[in-house]
Amino acid sequence: MVIKDAVPAFLGQPARIQALIHSLETQVSITPEIAKECVQAANIEVEDLQQWTDFEHPIADSYGRQLIYDGDNFEIMVMSWAPGDYSAIHDHGAAQWGAVQSFGEAEHAIFRLEHMQLSTVSVHPFSAGTINSVDHDLIHQMGNPGDQPFLSLHVYGCLSPSGPVTGGARMFDLYEESIQYTDGGVFFGLPSDQISRQVRGLQGDRDTTLRHHQQMLDRVQRRLASGEDTIHLLQVATTLQQCIADLNTVTSSV
Ligand SMILES: [Fe+2]
Repeated sequence: MVIKDAVPAFLGQPARIQALIHSLETQVSITPEIAKECVQAANIEVEDLQQWTDFEHPIADSYGRQLIYDGDNFEIMVMSWAPGDYSAIHDHGAAQWGAVQSFGEAEHAIFRLEHMQLSTVSVHPFSAGTINSVDHDLIHQMGNPGDQPFLSLHVYGCLSPSGPVTGGARMFDLYEESIQYTDGGVFFGLPSDQISRQVRGLQGDRDTTLRHHQQMLDRVQRRLASGEDTIHLLQVATTLQQCIADLNTVTSSV
C-alpha cells in the first residue's frame, strides 16, 4: 500500500474524524449503506469540523469547500453553507459510494436524467444530524434555504481510483444547456478553465428549469452586488430573468 502524505493530517485530525478514517480504511468492501453506517458510528460533532469552516468563501463559489482528508480510495470534505448557498445540480464523478451528514437545516433535491432530459424526483428538507448515502448514479443538489449558516460532512470513495475520487463530476447546467465535467467544486456559472469538457443538448422540464434559473440568478446577482461588474454577468442576469418570466407565463396560461 502506498503511504500518502495525508498521514500527518490523519494524526492531526480530531479524534472522531480519526475514528471515521480508521473505520473507512479497515472495511473489506464499502457500499453506500456501509459508508453511511461508518459516518453514523463516528458520531462526529460540529466542533470536530470547526477548523474547516469557510463561510467567507468567494461569492462566485456556490458554497465553501474544504478537503480535510485524502486517502488511498476515499476523500473527506467539509462544506460550508451560508444562507442562500446552493450547489449546482451534479453527480460525483468516479465515486462509487459516499455519505453526507448535515449539521443544519439543509435542502436536498434529487434528479433523473433520461435522454438528456433532466427532471426533479424530489425536494426534501435535510435536517441537522441526518445522514444520506450517496451512490454512483445519484444526481442531486444541496443548499441552505434558511437564514443560519451550517456545515456538512462528505465522504466519497471508490474501489481503485485512477485520479481524484470525485474527479470528472458532471454538472447539469440548464442555462448553457450542457453537461459540464469538472474536478473541483460544483458551482453555478463555473469558469470555462474549470470545465474539462462539456456535452451540449441538455434540457429540463419546466419546474426543474425554473428552480435552476432562479438559483443561478440569485448567485449571479450576489456576484454583481459584490462589485463583480462584468458585461457577461449582466447579460446572464438579463437572460435568466427573461427565461424565468417566460416559464412563469407558461404556468399562468395553463
Ligand atoms: Fe453532492
